[in-house]
Amino acid sequence: MALLSMEKVSFSYDKKIDAVKNVSLTVDEGEYVAIIGHNGSGKSTLAKLFNGLCKPDSGEVVVDGFSCKDKKSLFEIRKRVGVVFQNPDNQMVASIVEDDIAFGPENLGVKREEIGERIQFALASVGMEEFRKSSPARLSGGQKQRIAIAGVLAIKPKILVLDESTAMLDPQGRKEVLEVVERLNKEQKTTLINITHYMDEVVRADKVYVVNDGEIVLSGTPKEIFAKRELLEECGLELPVSSKIAQKLIELGVNLPDGILTKEQLAEELCVLKQKI
Ligand SMILES: Nc1ncnc2c1ncn2[C@@H]1O[C@H](COP(=O)(O)OP(=O)(O)O)[C@@H](O)[C@H]1O
Ligand SMILES: [Mg+2]
Repeated sequence: MALLSMEKVSFSYDKKIDAVKNVSLTVDEGEYVAIIGHNGSGKSTLAKLFNGLCKPDSGEVVVDGFSCKDKKSLFEIRKRVGVVFQNPDNQMVASIVEDDIAFGPENLGVKREEIGERIQFALASVGMEEFRKSSPARLSGGQKQRIAIAGVLAIKPKILVLDESTAMLDPQGRKEVLEVVERLNKEQKTTLINITHYMDEVVRADKVYVVNDGEIVLSGTPKEIFAKRELLEECGLELPVSSKIAQKLIELGVNLPDGILTKEQLAEELCVLKQKI
């Protein structure tokens, strides 16, 4: 059984703006799922439907056996789905890192002794132990988002959702955050949903959903998705630079395989080619 499933879910704001239309999707335990779509395509609304902040007009969201249709399940759903948002500054509530991380578990009524352990575990998970007593205001954007992730991890959610959590960061900050969450997925088997509009962030996901105008228009492995170049462009999405370069080289007659996604793959294929010459 899927850890999270959405079955024919529709949602509109004020019964006017159809933000999500008839969406069905599944996320398995331990899976790394990416959801990609341009601005206004309904991604944040999906994130809010995942953790019960929005209630479907029709259809059903089930998390770990708890249905959003059952009012009593909402608390259980929120405990299980932790969302990290876009702007790190809006997510900091305290003036010392450890107090900030304690906020979530305190609200859930976790005992004081255990909160200390959770802070330790959460900071270690994002590689920020040495900043326990620091002021969040003094951290870089990437470090702040890692603290925001630690704050969510301290709740011990089964599913970690990043809603464009790297969008406001510089390339170094984006890299830091992605490395942290991808390691959590690999090593701690944390189920990860990365919602983004950057194509290069989806290359390592197990499964990708492409959303456009509130609907899922495409799903599959990153390779399968990237093969549908024209459809992606129609959805306002750009291929990763390495894919574009590879495509251009193929057009110029260079003998490269189709479906190159990352710069590492491109470099490797170019080395193979060089050895043949
Ligand atoms: N609180 C809101 N009230 C009314 N309309 C909203 C609200 N939030 C989002 N929308 C609209 O819903 C659609 C989907 O928005 P959103 O889920 O935020 O997309 P994304 O996260 O992909 O940018 C857009 O048309 C947006 O303008
Ligand atoms: Mg959004």
